[in-house]
Amino acid sequence: MLAVKQPPLIQIHDKTFRIFLTEAKIQVQVAKMAEKIQVRFKHKNPLFIVVLNGAFMFASDLIKAANIPCEIAFIRVASYRGMESSGDLKELLGLQEELNNRHVIVVEDIVDSGHTMARLLEDFRVEQPASLSVAALLVKPEQMKTQINIEYTGFEISELFVVGYGLDYDGQGRYLKDIYQLKDD
Ligand code: IMP
Ligand code: MG
Repeated sequence: MLAVKQPPLIQIHDKTFRIFLTEAKIQVQVAKMAEKIQVRFKHKNPLFIVVLNGAFMFASDLIKAANIPCEIAFIRVASYRGMESSGDLKELLGLQEELNNRHVIVVEDIVDSGHTMARLLEDFRVEQPASLSVAALLVKPEQMKTQINIEYTGFEISELFVVGYGLDYDGQGRYLKDIYQLKDD
């Protein structure tokens, strides 16, 4: 086996990050979210819409843990440059799937300002899904600029930037099993 222990501090580009949420802690939360999804959508053949790139690792673990018949689709949008959200959304990879009458679960790594999720939900709602819910591993409540309902949340965190478990800082850090937070001192 390769060494699994991650260092307490890591350097990415010009920034230092410290260990914040360990793999074990993340997996406990993911399992709890998956269980709720399982109970609610067991016989509903839900359609998971995974927001790339950041949510790929979380979505993989969540959907495996939910362990119910379902379909999985991917969407890719961009609204973020470096550490700041720009608010406007560009669709880089669209959806082929019909959402009408489907039970749709949007899977996102992190909701920061909420602009990305608000825009996506607005677009999806037009197609009149049977239900539309959000599973976000991380939410930054203090940063939220829009009113959105997040049915399944892993962790509520401060506004500090995080990387790892799919999340990146300018393309780096996605491979990490744990989540690291910007060291602000
Ligand atoms: P929002 O539109 O401001 O909610 O931003 C959402 C997107 O910005 C997320 O899907 C992430 O891709 C990215 N993002 C927001 N905060 C962070 C962070 O702390 N680390 C890495 N990516 C982030
Ligand atoms: Mg994302």
